[in-house]
Amino acid sequence: MLNGALEASKSNSLMSQYSAVLGNAILRHRARIAERAASVEAELAGRIKSEFITNMSHELRTPLNTVIGFSKLISEHQDRRLPDKDIVEFANLIHGAAGHLLSIINDILDISKIQSGKYTLDSSDLSLGEVVEAAMPGFRLAAEETGVRLGHRIDPALQPVRGDAVKIRQIVTNLVNNAIKFTQEGGLVMVEAARRPAGGAVLVVRDTGVGMSDEEIRVALTPFGQVDGARSRWREGTGLGLPIAKALVELHGGRLQIRSVKSRGTEVAVMLPARHQVSIAQARDAVLGAGL
Ligand SMILES: Nc1ncnc2c1ncn2[C@@H]1O[C@H](COP(=O)(O)OP(=O)(O)O)[C@@H](O)[C@H]1O
Ligand SMILES: [Mg+2]
Repeated sequence: MLNGALEASKSNSLMSQYSAVLGNAILRHRARIAERAASVEAELAGRIKSEFITNMSHELRTPLNTVIGFSKLISEHQDRRLPDKDIVEFANLIHGAAGHLLSIINDILDISKIQSGKYTLDSSDLSLGEVVEAAMPGFRLAAEETGVRLGHRIDPALQPVRGDAVKIRQIVTNLVNNAIKFTQEGGLVMVEAARRPAGGAVLVVRDTGVGMSDEEIRVALTPFGQVDGARSRWREGTGLGLPIAKALVELHGGRLQIRSVKSRGTEVAVMLPARHQVSIAQARDAVLGAGL
């Protein structure tokens, strides 16, 4: 009897020693895993940061070099005796580069205003169809250069929506520029504005381009996020167009939806409500929630 009790207490103490050792081992293992995860995260954050800095410096430096280089050539005109047509061409290059720089700076200001909730919209009755019609000629050159066919269709039954025509045009521009930019030669980009059966209007920009996976869509909607950020970037950009478009849609009380299939194409649908409901908080949350 006594022996039995002794045996039991011995095995109890062995068990508790064993569980203490096991517990410590588990804690050490967990600590190692957490350490490793933190270092992987830090490495990833560092890589994204340096990728971002490289990309932004490239985006800013390219047009600045054009401005500096060609204005210098013009300033040396007395010695170089440049023909008129060269001077005009250089001035046009400087004008284009400066406009590009301005649009990058405007995008950065827009995203920071949206994030701080200080973005305001004008509100008037407008026709989505007219906004699309007015914007289309501006895309022709880019489409021709890329060898992409570009079409548009406006629903005659379209009703006016309330909103800010300049911002709606910015949404159209950002989406169509992306569709052209990420579609290979011979592809098709189609822009449609239609009446929604439930009221309001829908803008659909469809392309037969490179497409995105679900994870890539998530990255694309993050401010400054670009799919294939590093080596395989084959088009320039700052990664702000899509998040700005989404936030502007949400400021109108609307919704932006992306459906995409890798190597097949992308469809971005923008649903605008019939009545204007400004929701600055909603748009800001959408952008902040996307990762910054
Ligand atoms: N229509 C599209 N087809 C394929 N990829 C796209 C499309 N639109 C956007 N993307 C991806 O989303 C990223 C972010 O787009 P955006 O915010 O407009 O930035 P940017 O055009 O400056 O790269 C792009 O770099 C691209 O990888
Ligand atoms: Mg873009």
